[in-house]
Amino acid sequence: MELLNKGKAKSVYKGEADLIIEFRDDLTAGDGAKHATMEGKGALNAEISARFFELLDEAGMETHFLGYEKPNRHLAKEVKIIPLEVICRNIAAGSILRRYPFEEGQEFTPPLVEFGFKSDEYHDPMLNDEVAIALGAVKDRGELNRMREMTLRVNDILRGFLAERGVILVDFKLEFGWDRDGNLLLADEVSPDTCRFWDAETKEVMDKDRFRRDMGDVLEYYREIRRRVYGD
Ligand code: TMP
Ligand code: ASP
Repeated sequence: MELLNKGKAKSVYKGEADLIIEFRDDLTAGDGAKHATMEGKGALNAEISARFFELLDEAGMETHFLGYEKPNRHLAKEVKIIPLEVICRNIAAGSILRRYPFEEGQEFTPPLVEFGFKSDEYHDPMLNDEVAIALGAVKDRGELNRMREMTLRVNDILRGFLAERGVILVDFKLEFGWDRDGNLLLADEVSPDTCRFWDAETKEVMDKDRFRRDMGDVLEYYREIRRRVYGD
C-alpha cells in the first residue's frame, strides 16, 4: 500500500478508490515531546471513533467516514485537510485553564468553540478569524462559521449519546477537510485521544489526560469507553 501520510498516531494509505486510515498504538503528548506505545490502543480508538462517525452519519452530518475494518482501520473519502484544530468545550479543563482565569470543572453555557493552527512546530496556537484567513487556512469567515456550526452539532449529538452512557463530554478536537467536489467534511478521528471524557458519577478521567498527566491505567479506561459506547 502506498503511504500518503504518517502522523503521530495514524498512518494514511491510498486504497483502491479511497483512503485507508490505520490507527496505530502510538500515544503522544506535548506536540510529540512525550511518546509511548500501548498495544491495542489503535484498535480501541478505531472502534470507538467508528461508532461516533456512524452516529454522526445517521444524524445526517457529512463526514469522510466510509467504514470500519477490524481491528484498526477506517476507510475514508479523500479530503484536503484544513490546517485548523476546532476545539469545543463544555467544561473548563486543560489548556484553557492556563490561558484564562476559569476554574476547572466550570460549565460553559453555551459551549465554547476555539480554533487552533495545526502545527506542532508552533504548538497549535489559538487564532482568530483574521489570522486563519491571512494564513490561507480558509478563504473567508463563512467557512469558519460552517465549521463552528458543524462542531456545535457534533457536540449536541455526542454529548447526549454519552450522557445516556454515564460519560460527560468535557471537550474535544475536530478536523475538517474538502473533498474533490468542494464539500466540507468532518475528518480525522473522534476518540479518547482527541476528547476529554469524565465519568458522570465519579468524575474520573477516562481519556488521554491519563497519559498526559501520568495517571496510569490508560488502556483500562479506553476499554471502558469502548464498552460504554457499544453497550456490551
Ligand atoms: P487542550 O485543553 O489541550 O487545548 O485540548 C482541548 C481538547 O482538544 C482535548 O479534548 C484534547 C484535544 N486536543 C487534541 O486532540 N489534539 C491537540 O493537538 C490538542 C491541542 C488538543
Ligand atoms: N496532539 C498533541 C500531541 O500528540 C497534543 C496533545 O494531544 O496533548 O502531542
